[in-house]
Amino acid sequence: MDIRVLQSSDLPLIQHANLENLPENYFLKYYLYHAMTWPQLSYVAVDISRPQKTPYDQPKIVGYVLAKMEEEPADGVQHGHITSLSVMRTHRRLGIAEKLMRQAQLAMVETFGAHYVSLHVRVSNRAAIHLYCDTLGFHNEKTESKYYADGEDAYSMRLELSDIR
Ligand code: ACO
Repeated sequence: MDIRVLQSSDLPLIQHANLENLPENYFLKYYLYHAMTWPQLSYVAVDISRPQKTPYDQPKIVGYVLAKMEEEPADGVQHGHITSLSVMRTHRRLGIAEKLMRQAQLAMVETFGAHYVSLHVRVSNRAAIHLYCDTLGFHNEKTESKYYADGEDAYSMRLELSDIR
C-alpha cells in the first residue's frame, strides 16, 4: 500500500470512492478547489499490489482523505478541517484510514502551522468515531442537531495538534 499526496488526476477516482462510501457528496470542482488551494493536505491510498497491465492502467485508489485549512476561523486560531475520509470496503480495518489521517494532520502542522484539526461525524458512525476518538485522540466538542441533510445529528470533533508542532 502506498500513501501519497493527492494529484488532480486522482479526482474522478476520489469522487467515485466518495459516492461508494458516503452520503455526503460533492461536485468535482469542490475536490479541485481542495487540490489547488491546499495541495499538501489531501492524501490517497493506492493499492500497488495490483499489476499494471498496460501503461494506461489507472492505479487503484482504495482510500482518500480530503482536507483543508479553515479559511476564516471564527475563533481566529489557524486550524485544519477534514472534509471527507473514506476507505473502500475491500480494504477496511488494515490501518489505512489512520495512516491517511496522520499524514494530513502532520502536513497541516508542517505547512500551515495548524493548532488543531476539526471534523464532523454522524453520531451513528461507530467505526469512524472509534478511529477519531480511540485511535487518534479527538474529543467531541459539541453535538450539532440535524447537521446532515437527512436530519441526523453530528458530533463536532477536534484534536489539538500541539504534540506534533
Ligand atoms: N467498528 C469498530 N472499530 C472500527 C471499525 C468498525 N467497523 N472499523 C475500523 N475500526 C477501528 C479499527 O479497529 C482501528 O482501531 P484500533 O486503532 O483500536 O486498532 C481504528 O478504527 C482505525 O482503523 P483503520 O483500519 O485505520 O480504519 P479503516 O481504514 O477501516 O477506515 C473508516 C475507517 C474510514 C471509518 C471506514 O470504515 C470507512 O470508509 N467508512 C465509510 C466512510 C466513513 O464513514 N467515513 C468517515 C466519515 S466522517 C468524515 O468524513 C469527516
